Amino acid sequence: MIELKNISKTFVTKEATVHAVKNATLSIAEGEIYGVIGYSGAGKSTLVRCINLLEVPESGTLSIDGFGTVTMQPGKKKPDFEPADGSGKRALTEKDLQRLRKGIGMIFQHFNLLDRSTVFDNVAFPLKKSGKSKEEIRSKVAELLNLVGLTEKANSYPSELSGGQKQRVAIARALANEPKILLSDEATSALDPDVTESILKLLKELNRKLGLTIVLITHEMAVIKEICNEVAVMENGEIVETGHVYDVFNLPTSDIATSFVESSSGLKRIDKLFAGRSPLVQKTEAGDVLVRLVFAGPSADEALITETAKETGCRVNIVLANIDLLEEKPLGSMIVMIKGTKEQTAAAVKKLKDSGVRVEEVADDDVRKEEEQ
Ligand SMILES: Nc1ncnc2c1ncn2[C@@H]1O[C@H](COP(=O)(O)OP(=O)(O)O)[C@@H](O)[C@H]1O
Ligand SMILES: [Mg+2]
Repeated sequence: MIELKNISKTFVTKEATVHAVKNATLSIAEGEIYGVIGYSGAGKSTLVRCINLLEVPESGTLSIDGFGTVTMQPGKKKPDFEPADGSGKRALTEKDLQRLRKGIGMIFQHFNLLDRSTVFDNVAFPLKKSGKSKEEIRSKVAELLNLVGLTEKANSYPSELSGGQKQRVAIARALANEPKILLSDEATSALDPDVTESILKLLKELNRKLGLTIVLITHEMAVIKEICNEVAVMENGEIVETGHVYDVFNLPTSDIATSFVESSSGLKRIDKLFAGRSPLVQKTEAGDVLVRLVFAGPSADEALITETAKETGCRVNIVLANIDLLEEKPLGSMIVMIKGTKEQTAAAVKKLKDSGVRVEEVADDDVRKEEEQ
């Protein structure tokens, strides 16, 4: 549906030259909810704005199903364009750009509504130049407001709405021209957690009902966890990791993805236990080991721990536990203290590993090192 190949975007200002996106390659399939996560300044917004060419990259290729392929021509003013209709290569025109943007809706953190217009007029705004009659526009707006659950608010002004309702108006407006793609740039970052949940639920519903492909930028792993199928992790303008959401949560490979996954899992609280010298993390016997266990899929249960303890003669104390449901599949992680002689705990670790559990030792040195940085 969307392919970015070797996309680079540099901003040159008086103060500095910023390589906002460096050589990014990304492939997003039709009907996917694709997450892009990274800290502030990582280049997420710039990358996503390259999809509708709100930012024109200086190099790289952009392909959109049903539209065509745009190839940047470094040094030349206009990119090359090969339309999907097979009419042959030419320079990209202003009209092509308009058509591209019409097929891609966008929503933002601060909603960007017209404050002096009613909800109805906000949603009708993109239809002004569509050639539709007044009656057609009226019925289209009614349909959209119904879709986002705001039928009763048609005559209200944005100032009379809650944040969640404002974002619903923005979503209805973004869908006015029946785009196949929706770009969401931190759309839930200004909302309370329960409102965030309802907006994410709405996006998921639209994805399913309309077959809408959604590219969703966020700095919160919880949002990715909630609705995305695929995720790209960005750092310093680069895409450092991509994959199925379940796989990235199960086994992140980059440091930054690991830190995002940990921050959303609840196991981060181990830092506090170390800092407070909690007895839960104190080793008292020769063989004691403190480990993080990651159970993927059906092995995510405590029965295995009980069985391991019984079989090896260890005692296993659960310090922290967290079970997630990602795309309906359970993913569990736990920090446990395995207590006993060296032989006993080694046997326990082996048994857990043999059962398909990932076992990583947790040392409070790691935590101290982080604190010193
Ligand atoms: N229009 C611009 N002019 C100059 N620098 C920009 C512009 N837009 C973004 N940047 C810079 O590019 C980098 C990436 O920004 P952005 O894509 O907004 O990151 P993110 O969305 O991940 O926070 C930042 O250093 C930012 O300051
Ligand atoms: Mg941004």
